[in-house]
Amino acid sequence: MIAGARPNFMKIAPLMSAFSKYPQVHCRLVHTGQHYDPALSRIFFDELGIPKPDVNLEVGSGSHASQTAEIMKRFEKVLEQSPPHAVIVVGDVNSTIACGLVAVKMGIRLAHVEAGLRSFDRTMPEEINRVLTDAISDLLFCSEASGVTNLRREGVPEDKIFLVGNVMIDTLLRHRERAEASRILETLGLETDEYVLLTLHRPSNVDSDGTLARIFAALEVVQKERPVVFPVHPRTRKAITSGTLARQIADMPGLKLVDPLGYLDFIKLMAHAKVVLTDSGGIQEETTVLQIPCLTLRNNTERPSTIEMGTNRLVGADPDRILAGYRTVLANKCPVGKIPPFWDGHAAERIAEILIQRWA
Ligand code: UD1
Repeated sequence: MIAGARPNFMKIAPLMSAFSKYPQVHCRLVHTGQHYDPALSRIFFDELGIPKPDVNLEVGSGSHASQTAEIMKRFEKVLEQSPPHAVIVVGDVNSTIACGLVAVKMGIRLAHVEAGLRSFDRTMPEEINRVLTDAISDLLFCSEASGVTNLRREGVPEDKIFLVGNVMIDTLLRHRERAEASRILETLGLETDEYVLLTLHRPSNVDSDGTLARIFAALEVVQKERPVVFPVHPRTRKAITSGTLARQIADMPGLKLVDPLGYLDFIKLMAHAKVVLTDSGGIQEETTVLQIPCLTLRNNTERPSTIEMGTNRLVGADPDRILAGYRTVLANKCPVGKIPPFWDGHAAERIAEILIQRWA
């Protein structure tokens, strides 16, 4: 089982737990070290009860090529020392494709969890990782129906594809009540339903000053009306700590910048927000289940069920569109969403059952 970056950890937690119920399966966890800050990694292991990784490749940050290559070199040695029966990768980060590629080149079976999602935007590094990982996987587990449709269109044989539901939602449902006990609202001086929650880390938004400035032009208006809580990802922190943007942000008293938060605090913040503004993939899904309106600061999504059934809508980075979306939410014009099929807390159990049936 491979995990490397923050959004992987909540996906492997229920898988590790599902496999632990099968005494005949020995599950080894490899952490690539793509994310290494305790706030992006260790806190999730602690809060979600994920076992300590058996191996940490400690690759750290780097350009796409050097990070991916380093993971591949180090993971190959791990597989040479003790080859597993199968490798399971989740999501769409660099660790996903890097480890998947090493496994199949060594003749080891590969399963991809969260397969088939497509934004159809190849400027997104994650889209390349998704397309390539799916192309080399032996079993593909989809979280939503669009994944199945996309894989069929790409010619993946029917007997490799399984619609099993969403492992990230398994974790959300399992920890929802515990998260309610978090004191983060009190700590930040917030009132239920009276604040906006913001996250931003996509390179297409934060690596361009122009795009960030447009997003912040909308936030300037929003923060005058209600507090905007903004847990800042390290990539984004770099982009906003100097220059005009830093001065613009310093002039927004309603914008509360905080360090990246742990899982339970973040779920609590999402569950009680008036609206969530984000460019994350997973948050579009979590707000759908929590039935909190989500405005996605992108022009596409690889998770269309969150729009078709859930509480999500795309607003891009254009200030007028962001504000129009925000006003619609305030006017209570957002329909209460439905929960996509199989987002019921049991996706990981289905995956474990299928894998054991097929490969044990
Ligand atoms: C990665 C994933 C992205 C995912 C995101 C969640 C890829 C291509 N991208 O993006 O899909 O949505 O994680 O967070 O795999 N850094 C730290 N501490 C860390 C890790 C990174 O400070 O523990 C800083 C480094 O300066 C690094 C930058 O953040 O250069 C970006 O990290 P990286 O792992 O390259 O990509 P993310 O933007 O985090």
